[in-house]
Amino acid sequence: MTSDTPTGSAATTGAPAPGAPGAPGSAAAVVGLQWGDEGKGKLIDVMASGFDAVVRFNGGANAGHSVVIGGRRFALHLIPSGILHEGVLSVIGNGVVVDPIALVEEIDGIEQRGVDTSNLVLSERAHLVLPYHIREDEQRERALAGAGGRDRSIGTTKRGIGPAYADKALRSTAVRAGDLRDPDALVARLRAIAPAKNALLGAFGAPPLEPEALAAELEPVAERLRPRLRDTTYLLHGLLAGGRSILFEGANATLLDVDHGTYPFVTSSGTTALGISSGSGVPAQRVGSIVGVMKAYTTRVGAGPMPTELHDADGDRIRERGNEFGTTTGRPRRCGWLDLVAARYAVMVNGATEVALTLLDVLSGFEELRVCTAYRLADGTTTDRFLPDARSLESIEPVYETLPGFAEDVTGVTTRAGLPDNARRYIDFVESFVGVRISTVGVGPDRAQTITG
Ligand code: IMP
Repeated sequence: MTSDTPTGSAATTGAPAPGAPGAPGSAAAVVGLQWGDEGKGKLIDVMASGFDAVVRFNGGANAGHSVVIGGRRFALHLIPSGILHEGVLSVIGNGVVVDPIALVEEIDGIEQRGVDTSNLVLSERAHLVLPYHIREDEQRERALAGAGGRDRSIGTTKRGIGPAYADKALRSTAVRAGDLRDPDALVARLRAIAPAKNALLGAFGAPPLEPEALAAELEPVAERLRPRLRDTTYLLHGLLAGGRSILFEGANATLLDVDHGTYPFVTSSGTTALGISSGSGVPAQRVGSIVGVMKAYTTRVGAGPMPTELHDADGDRIRERGNEFGTTTGRPRRCGWLDLVAARYAVMVNGATEVALTLLDVLSGFEELRVCTAYRLADGTTTDRFLPDARSLESIEPVYETLPGFAEDVTGVTTRAGLPDNARRYIDFVESFVGVRISTVGVGPDRAQTITG
């Protein structure tokens, strides 16, 4: 076995306990360690009240953070989870791709439920996802699904994320939130983009981009968003200089990172803590604590390798008990045992200073729990290194350790010491394997069902 994976120290860091205030002038982050849907939204919601601002730095409406408060479920896609806390500034940073139509719908949806959104601001440098990006995403997926007689689609959320980031990199076909300020400039921009976009959309047989019609559709949305546009880089530096604290909210997750994930079955942005700086303008050294969130098991939506996926009754049981259906697309999630090789890699790449383990309650009732601690390669050797490349990862077999399960319902447990012995053993095993402290354990969907310390 090759064993050159560095492990972190189990040091306690300066991360504030959920609900406790962030240190003045400091920033913390919450990022997903797996393939998304780890329960980041709930944790951020629990932590948010201790910070002055909650900031999104990557992704777009592909993310779906659901938060349950007092039995009511809120699904947030673009709006930072801090919005549900009065007095906390919610910032959509420059690294996010924003569907302005979806954003206004989301604002209206939560306002109708009595949530005040006056504290939501948007970077003028965030790039826009427009309806033709969504059509392009759909058409590209459709073309890949039929390519060469084999389904090669990525299984995207079809929210236009990839095409919008591609346009950002291309520059000549990009539209930024700041372009919503001036209706004449916006229509001129769309006219300039139309020839290239329409050549592509036409080749796919999709309806064309009509600049005047789209500008007219966007105008009421632009009117709503204009007052929220800011230079969020200066805004955030101003907050830090004034002794305020910031919480960065990662969207999607580490194994979906465009550089460090299971490429090409990834999303198009920097989803790890490494993406914070480019996606917000705040340098890495300001981010003192990084909480990596992982489920007590593994899930994935969309295509791509997942070594511990279960195709049996155990997988179905996890899906049903964990309500593992996508917040954004409603798709059933692929479910499997905890992949600790992947988790330790994700802790390393993010520089996670602590881990929040979520959905422990879903595992109650299994006689035995399996965790993947190594991969067996095609040549028969084993490694404890993650393989962040789809083709390499597809060819491995997971090597499991089996731990005793716990039968008790843990949804009402409030302290780590109060957990059944085998649940505690499971947590201890995970903690020592990934090498950082597990500071939070989730035992149910409500804010209150969180064990800290
Ligand atoms: P895209 O981000 O829509 O381009 O999708 C690319 C891949 O990332 C697909 O497999 C999606 O299912 C997955 N994905 C994107 N965002 C999330 C998320 O927030 N949770 C889980 N999977 C996601």
